[in-house]
Amino acid sequence: MVNYNAKPVRYHRTRTREIADFISTKVDNNIDMDVVRSFGEEWNRFHHFSKPTIAKICKEYFDIIDQSIVNKDTYMIDIGCGSGRWSEYFLDKVKFVEAVDPSDAVFAADELLGSTDKARITKASINTLPWPDETFDFGMSVGVLHHIPNTQMALTDCVKKIKKGGYFYVYLYYNLDYRGFLFRSLFFFSDLIRKVVSRMPITLKKVTCDLLAFFVYVPFVWLSRFFSFLGFKKLAAKIPLSAYANKDFYIIRNDSLDRFGTKLEQRFTRQEIETMMTKAGLSNIRFGESSAFWHAVGKKS
Ligand SMILES: C[S@@+](CC[C@H](N)C(=O)[O-])C[C@H]1O[C@@H](n2cnc3c(N)ncnc32)[C@H](O)[C@@H]1O
Repeated sequence: MVNYNAKPVRYHRTRTREIADFISTKVDNNIDMDVVRSFGEEWNRFHHFSKPTIAKICKEYFDIIDQSIVNKDTYMIDIGCGSGRWSEYFLDKVKFVEAVDPSDAVFAADELLGSTDKARITKASINTLPWPDETFDFGMSVGVLHHIPNTQMALTDCVKKIKKGGYFYVYLYYNLDYRGFLFRSLFFFSDLIRKVVSRMPITLKKVTCDLLAFFVYVPFVWLSRFFSFLGFKKLAAKIPLSAYANKDFYIIRNDSLDRFGTKLEQRFTRQEIETMMTKAGLSNIRFGESSAFWHAVGKKS
């Protein structure tokens, strides 16, 4: 691993490691600290993911990542690692993983990753990443950049850390690009709910999101499963939240808190994401066609 090129503001000692902390509000102009605090709470509540659960979800997220992009020689960075679940997935596929997050989620990642010598956890945000430019062979930011005030600036800052010829992967919320009127109307109402729930005190927020998981997600999931069971696969896929049809209730509760508990979220069309990736210095951009929408990978030219 490459040494830090900045001095940590402080260190946190856990049972398994020392975590260097580079978070200083003075130098960070592209971060929403309320959002970061909320994610710290979320991931410390939800980080008990088994290897099979992680592997199942990763099949959807990383269907566009093959051996030419990630292999045993790869030095990678997971930016906005949250609980560290995707870092854990890559541990035995790469040479070394740098797992980075500005929130207290680093302590959840510390538990999930355990005492491996193939990963280091760092508390830092995108514009305080303590490594020289062009350090990494592969970088990823999964569900992070849409929670940052200036997504383009953040993406450009991430790509700067990738070596020429290396790859950067991103998952960003889609802007309901191909959805019809009914779906968009339901989304509009769910977004109003998010705007209220995300401003609640944390305990009330957690309870409300659990109730939403049970009374909103579960009925849609069951409806989608029912259509699938009857053989109407296309119809099943059109049901809102059908992406959760193969997920367990723990993941649904986690995603309910993730979705409704977060104050700042932005959405992008496939075209907008491609444009942002190109502006950030990526080419050969490839999108995944399965959920989650949109996920894409590009090569740093
Ligand atoms: C939805 S979570 C995704 C976590 C993880 N990538 C996953 O998919 O499980 C978003 C993460 O982005 C992190 N984040 C928010 N602002 C950030 C910033 N400015 N720099 C880096 N990470 C940030 C949050 O702390 C949070 O853990």
